[in-house]
Amino acid sequence: MKERQLSPTHPWFSRFWAVAGAVSIRTKILGIVLGLVLVLGITVTVQVRSVLTRTMDMQLEEQGISVARDLAARATDLILINNLYALHQLLRDTQANNGNVRYAFVVSPQGQVLAHTFGDGFPAGLLDANTVTSDAHHHSITLNTDEGQVWDTAVPIFEGRAGIARIGLSEAGLRRTVDGITGQLLLTTVLVSAIGITAATLLTWVLTRPVLDLVRATQAVGRRDFTARVPRWANDEIGELADAFNSMTAALAKADLERAEREQLRAQYVSGVIAAQEDERKRIARELHDSTSQSLSSLLLGLRAMSDACEQADIRHRADELRMVAADTLEEVHTLALQLRPSMLDDLGLPAALERHVADCQRLHPLHIDLAIKGLNDQRLPPTVETALYRIVQEALTNVMRHAQAQTASIFIERHSHAVRAIIEDDGHGFDLAQVSSNDGHLGLYGIRERAELLGGRLTIESEPGHGTSLFIEIPLSSKEENHA
Ligand SMILES: Nc1ncnc2c1ncn2[C@@H]1O[C@H](COP(=O)(O)OP(=O)(O)O)[C@@H](O)[C@H]1O
Ligand SMILES: [Mg+2]
Repeated sequence: MKERQLSPTHPWFSRFWAVAGAVSIRTKILGIVLGLVLVLGITVTVQVRSVLTRTMDMQLEEQGISVARDLAARATDLILINNLYALHQLLRDTQANNGNVRYAFVVSPQGQVLAHTFGDGFPAGLLDANTVTSDAHHHSITLNTDEGQVWDTAVPIFEGRAGIARIGLSEAGLRRTVDGITGQLLLTTVLVSAIGITAATLLTWVLTRPVLDLVRATQAVGRRDFTARVPRWANDEIGELADAFNSMTAALAKADLERAEREQLRAQYVSGVIAAQEDERKRIARELHDSTSQSLSSLLLGLRAMSDACEQADIRHRADELRMVAADTLEEVHTLALQLRPSMLDDLGLPAALERHVADCQRLHPLHIDLAIKGLNDQRLPPTVETALYRIVQEALTNVMRHAQAQTASIFIERHSHAVRAIIEDDGHGFDLAQVSSNDGHLGLYGIRERAELLGGRLTIESEPGHGTSLFIEIPLSSKEENHA
């Protein structure tokens, strides 16, 4: 419930997270640190700058008024005695004493400039730019000049009867101060950013190194390598994670070992059962062949001799009938012995035994079977492989005849340098693999797989309802077995 509330469902958030979530932890932490430092630095810089500018503007205006009033007071006498030289000197001193004073001049009541500080002529238009009434204390305006803003203050001299004093205070010095402070603040921001980047890099290193170790170890576990252990880096949450991970892999390793032991036991057991089954079949087949067939043959011979020697027609007829029964039984015993364990497999090898088996199947079943065997003429396969392949083909063909309702089946066996491959295909109606593998009680396909896997090989089944079935079997041949005659 809580999780659903927290889940990022908003499209904006998803879009943001699609970008921010995709970058590495290092970039995320760097982004957060840099972002915070920059936001803080720039906000502080902008605020300080605006407050400073406002305060200094006010101070400049006040300074202008006081300088202008001072000038007006001191100029009064000089104007009244018409000492223009001293007036000029006064203006010069005023400018020299205050670095912000850009210009100063005095205007007569008639509107003429009596003295000014401009070396190369009085600028046009400046005179009319500002004025003050005689009853006012002062009048200030700002002028935009090509040297920046200038605070122009006009103050009446001797209540206007001796004219007007004008002072221009330049903002340039003030701007330089504000710019200097701004620059220092920005430099501090850059320095703090650099420290932030270093700290964030260190932090990510501390954080991601153990995480990367964990990732590597997890990948190793994914490859079934349970020996991977991660070092416990620190006594924090990541250290606890490392401990938990290590005990998990230890438990997995133990479980894997037990599983492998069980699997080995099972394989030993199955191979023992299969070997015992083969031995038993061999023994019964030999018994049938050597003892039972011999007895039946003797019986046949005896019955023939009996019928030949007998005079009475009905007894002779009876003996002939018994002889036929004995002959049929002998034939059945032969077939049974052959099915149990074809002596051909031991005596003549896999191709001959399979040809015989295929011929028998075709006699009993309306199915066309193609048999192709390559690379097995000169050298016989190891007996275990021969037996396994024979039983596999036997079971696969039984399945085709029992389940597939196929027209044709084909068997292809080929020996390669390091393996022997068999493909058994039919064009029947196929089956659903998922259903069969989950369905216990069918041991045919399971037996095929077991026989292949006990020899280190594998079985691949391809089947789909309506599209026939193919079994691919591959059994590796070790070099020792390859040389086996
Ligand atoms: N060649 C085949 N064509 C169609 N269905 C098959 C074929 N081989 C196996 N099957 C299906 O797979 C099932 C399992 O086969 P198997 O393990 O040999 O058990 P069983 O033959 O005893 O039923 C069969 O019951 C059948 O439905
Ligand atoms: Mg079967």
